[in-house]
Amino acid sequence: MSQVHLLDHPLLQHKLTLMRRKDASTNSFRRLLGEISSMMAYELTRDMALQPIEIETPLEASTGMVIDGKKLVFVSILRAGNGILDGMLSVVPGARVGHIGLYRDPQTLTAVEYYFKMPSEMQEREVIVVDPMLATGNSAIAAVQRLKELNPKSIKFCCLLTCPEGVAAMQQAHPDVDIYTAAIDRGLDEHGYIRPGLGDAGDRIFGTK
Ligand code: URA
Repeated sequence: MSQVHLLDHPLLQHKLTLMRRKDASTNSFRRLLGEISSMMAYELTRDMALQPIEIETPLEASTGMVIDGKKLVFVSILRAGNGILDGMLSVVPGARVGHIGLYRDPQTLTAVEYYFKMPSEMQEREVIVVDPMLATGNSAIAAVQRLKELNPKSIKFCCLLTCPEGVAAMQQAHPDVDIYTAAIDRGLDEHGYIRPGLGDAGDRIFGTK
């Protein structure tokens, strides 16, 4: 079974609380999400491979360790996932970026893909899928399913907030995909919103209604 990594550093909790407040401005919400995302990127990349390179310090020759950021792909589930991208890229600027767009068919309630654009050679890359809210899990599950067709080296899922239902659905569908989150809230309401949550993440990031 996959692991759930609860990233509850005091700075993350503090910033998340500010984001939850209904009177947080679009500007603050977006900035805080960016700050939290860059901090989460440290944990998400903790196991990235390092390679030795020869360097010259001002005093002598030495061997340093570097990562190959290009091997990493952040995959944003549109549109709210884009709110996480900038923060992640500020920490790993060489990473590649993929986008996947899904909407919910009102009849079948299943996720239907309308956009899918990934870097080449996905089988050589490590994937981190980003979406601020893991609620019912339908979009996340469909996105990961689609990415598995490209056979990447690994897939992790990163959200800001989730709930027991979202975690259970994701773990059942993809027991090989670890989940990274800053909080696990009480549960879903009848409209599929996470409670207490923070409302509609996409609307709050982009200032739409
Ligand atoms: N998507 C959101 O933006 N918010 C929720 O609470 C659940 C899904």
